[in-house]
Amino acid sequence: MQLFIDSGDLDEIREAQAMGAIDGVTTNPSLLAKGGRPTRQAIAAICEIVDGPVSAEVLAIDCEGILREGRELAKIHPNVVVKVPLIAEGLKAVKIFASEGIHTNVTLCFSAPQALLVAKAGATYISPFVGRIDDAGGDGMELVQQIVEIYRNYDFDTQVLTASVRSPVHFTRAALIGSHVATVPFAVIKQLLKHPLTDIGLAKFLEDAKKIPQG
Ligand code: G3P
Repeated sequence: MQLFIDSGDLDEIREAQAMGAIDGVTTNPSLLAKGGRPTRQAIAAICEIVDGPVSAEVLAIDCEGILREGRELAKIHPNVVVKVPLIAEGLKAVKIFASEGIHTNVTLCFSAPQALLVAKAGATYISPFVGRIDDAGGDGMELVQQIVEIYRNYDFDTQVLTASVRSPVHFTRAALIGSHVATVPFAVIKQLLKHPLTDIGLAKFLEDAKKIPQG
């Protein structure tokens, strides 16, 4: 499973990239607002840090506007993936982007039939928001399971990008289900790495090493 970082913060993207585990980046307007840089500038800087797909979201909600913004975003760098909202106008734009060779990530997916329509439109990625489904009392990972199964049944090329990941449990379940990608905030990436027995074991090794005779 590929691991993307879900972030608009250049420092944390740099740090995660240095760990060697990052295959790409997803951003959204909320994350870029926190980063405090204009979108084009932020996306260009991210593309310099990570050599992989970088999702940049359009703000338009009509097909013409989405196409206009998406084509501009795609010019920033060949790795840019245009992030499009899951609405009818968005799917019309996705179909045209696919014919132009522009990669797309359809965002804000909350149901299996939505995901089926997105694949038919020719999207590169579908982003089910698992944490937000859990927040609303549902089971976000059950949706990922359904989408992966439906896409396999019909050999769709669209990749499942598990988003709104809030915990290592989401990440592990995404990998077991066969999600192609999980996009994970930096705080959760750090949790993926942590295990108390690793820390206890390392402390003991370092302590015992002091008893090894020098020479
Ligand atoms: O990139 C979109 C998604 O991952 C948002 O996550 O935590 O705001 O639901 P969250």
